[in-house]
Amino acid sequence: MSVTIDGTPHEQPPRPGQCLRTYLRQEGAFGVKKGCDTGDCGACTVHVDGRPVHSCVYPAFRAQGRSVTTVHGLATDGELHPVQRQFLQAQGFQCGFCTAGFLMTAAALTEPQLEDLPRALKGNLCRCTGYRAIADALHGVVNVGEPAAGAAVGGNVGAPAGPQVVTGTARYTFDLDVPGVLHLKVVRSPYPHARIVAVDATEALAVPGVHAVLTHEDAPKRLFSTAQHENVAEDPADTRVLDDVVRHVGQRVAAVVADTEAAAEAGCRLVKVEYEVRPAVTDPEAAMLSGAPLVHGDKDASYGIARASANVAGELHAELGDVAAGFAEAEVVYEATFRTPRVQHASLETHGAVGWLDDDGRLVLRSSTQTPFLTRRALATLFDLPLEGVRVIAGRVGGGFGGKQEMLVEDLVALAVRKTGRPVQLEYTRAEQFTAATTRHPFSVRMKAGARRDGTLTAMRLRVVADTGAYGNHGPSVMYHGCHESLSVYRCANKKTDAYAVYTNTVPAGAFRGYGLGQVTFAVESVLDELARRLGMDPIALRERNIVRPGEEMTAPGSHADDLRIASYGLDQCLAVLRSAAESPVEPYPAGWLVGEGTALAMIAAGPPGGHFADATVTRLGDGRYEVAVGTAEFGNGSTTVHAQIAADALATTPDKIVIRQSDTDAVGHDTGAFASTGVVVAGKAVLHAAQALRQKMLAGATEEPLRAHGHWGGSPRSVAFNAQWFRIAVDPQTGEIRILRSVHSADAGAVLNPLQCRGQIEGGVAQALGATLAEHVDIEATGQVSTVGFRQYHLPTFADVPYTEVHFAETEDAIGPLGAKSMSESPFNPVAPAMANALRDATGVRFTDLPFTRDRVWQTLQDSLSSGGHRPKREPEE
Ligand code: FES
Ligand code: FES
Repeated sequence: MSVTIDGTPHEQPPRPGQCLRTYLRQEGAFGVKKGCDTGDCGACTVHVDGRPVHSCVYPAFRAQGRSVTTVHGLATDGELHPVQRQFLQAQGFQCGFCTAGFLMTAAALTEPQLEDLPRALKGNLCRCTGYRAIADALHGVVNVGEPAAGAAVGGNVGAPAGPQVVTGTARYTFDLDVPGVLHLKVVRSPYPHARIVAVDATEALAVPGVHAVLTHEDAPKRLFSTAQHENVAEDPADTRVLDDVVRHVGQRVAAVVADTEAAAEAGCRLVKVEYEVRPAVTDPEAAMLSGAPLVHGDKDASYGIARASANVAGELHAELGDVAAGFAEAEVVYEATFRTPRVQHASLETHGAVGWLDDDGRLVLRSSTQTPFLTRRALATLFDLPLEGVRVIAGRVGGGFGGKQEMLVEDLVALAVRKTGRPVQLEYTRAEQFTAATTRHPFSVRMKAGARRDGTLTAMRLRVVADTGAYGNHGPSVMYHGCHESLSVYRCANKKTDAYAVYTNTVPAGAFRGYGLGQVTFAVESVLDELARRLGMDPIALRERNIVRPGEEMTAPGSHADDLRIASYGLDQCLAVLRSAAESPVEPYPAGWLVGEGTALAMIAAGPPGGHFADATVTRLGDGRYEVAVGTAEFGNGSTTVHAQIAADALATTPDKIVIRQSDTDAVGHDTGAFASTGVVVAGKAVLHAAQALRQKMLAGATEEPLRAHGHWGGSPRSVAFNAQWFRIAVDPQTGEIRILRSVHSADAGAVLNPLQCRGQIEGGVAQALGATLAEHVDIEATGQVSTVGFRQYHLPTFADVPYTEVHFAETEDAIGPLGAKSMSESPFNPVAPAMANALRDATGVRFTDLPFTRDRVWQTLQDSLSSGGHRPKREPEE
């Protein structure tokens, strides 16, 4: 084999069957990424003799005698390629995991192809940006500015890691050589519920290169939750590293550790498992019925499970005021049931970790995690180690969306490292991501609301059933959170909630952007829209009449969020933006299509209840630069950029003088993690405190070296942020196709510290929500088997699918957040589905209650409605 890689000859022959992607990484080209290994995402794009190919489906041997260019070879003579410069200047990325692939595709585009980006970029997926930043880059838009000293906050400062991202040198989890690393593969259950009677590993251990086969007999007996929260008691302790009972298809049964992935896979195929199959339940309503199979029948309330005897992991039953009296007072009432399916995070970097023992015998884990400190604590507890006996590091994380607020791989890697004494890595395949990682919780929400003739709400009632799957990780918390701000954003004296997080024998759900609010907001905002229609009121006016106002209490049944404040208020401004959009002339649309408009709003707490902690240390380096050590990980949320801006302003310098050291449990004190929209409002506040303290020391003439100061924030009290979405759509009644004519999103993020990034979070959130609204669903067969196992079946939004969304910011300044800022990363997701449902209702006269609104479902629902005499479009179709 002789191949030229980025101008350098390589002679190493590929392994039999090896693809070019793994060959290139083996030869050190870590900029070549894996998003799927099936040719569907484009993250692995390279040029072979100048032509772009997906290297994961290109046999390595075919590169014989050819010239391969990766992202590392795009720059010439130290000069960035024009597309690299454009991506840097426009900040055409967030997590950056897809960026190398986009750069390689874009670098090969001709002028005519650049005119048709939806077609030209159809082979590359981005889960973070919503594609507008990428379009900006390819159109040569310069978004990033150069702030003056002390004036970075409020400017479009570029990400500190930008140069590394566009050259492929940013280090993600597996972008390093770990000498002697072993590979771990998992034997998974074919049954939704079974007891493991026996495991025979004899043949697997005989495979050359296999070092160990681990089973429940090797695993700690201690139960834990894969969910990571500051307060461990938030989640039921119902999980073992390897259990002797499997509760969903795809659950770990055994782990095979070998020299190569191929040997580990061969070993997995030879592990013989004897199961005693048990009855299973896959429907949450059925699971709560008397006599249903019990998923955790061997446990009780001492494990943090509400009612294991009824498969209820957590429940909430509470009432404010008198709901029956409220409905009696109402002049109009509407009630319906709304359903949302499983949705995958689909972060382009799959779950994975590599672990080893350092020279002192400490366990070190490098992981794609949003919670390095909580993961360290969980591992220390699990393996009875002192906290300082474990170090967890996150490299740059290739997308999270809540999915990596979970310990899905680190425990198994740690077990294998401790058993073998060797470095071990486990990297999920895309199929494992669908079958063995978490999803958004499917919710069924029965919502009833009543109002007086003037639109004043008199009663709101929720019945929520959330399917947490086989384990309770995040189940109760997602259910509680979903039922909170969705109701508390409205003033109403009478509110009642009955909610259940229910175990079933299905793949576990987990944390996902919005944390339950997206599901319940879909129901609440749809019902309010129906009330407005029945009252003959403008839906925006109905909301304006009932939304919570400054100085008022935010109430939800069962809520004890005493630290929640309206510390700045821009919801009225957000609605005013949507009203003016609604008054705009209708865009052209195809003859015969139906046109409609829809609005929805959402509120979210800036941070979780119960405390969220961050520590930061700022050190003067002596060469004009400062090091900021902060615990939180960067996974595309942009908090690192904002931390650099905050520190630079406090120290009267520029962000390029700020060196960030992050997400390393050795670097700084405890940090709860990068979740619940806390990167700016919690970790940012700790950075601000540390930088201000250092500035004070400097002004006081302190001479100690190194000069250093610490900052801390405990995440309480908390403010609330607001989002509102408006769509104008056209619907083809003949096919069910929905075309978005105009999309407007307004947000109250307090003082916007980096408008470019904040806009990107909103564009990305709206795009992700549109995927969940119009297309995405993970399917599970009656047997409990996940049948959606790759991007081929699971339609992620592509460049062509995502419309331009106008983003507007309210002008407010928060009294709690750092420098007036509020959070803005999860919340843009939440109002999108109901705004689309309300637009559909407006266009077609039909209330759509089940997500996603696929073309088939829209068409079928319209047909059903027509045949039952319904279906009354607002505007008559044009001839
Ligand atoms: S990794 Fe090759 S296309 Fe996804
Ligand atoms: S920036 Fe594209 S996947 Fe994260």
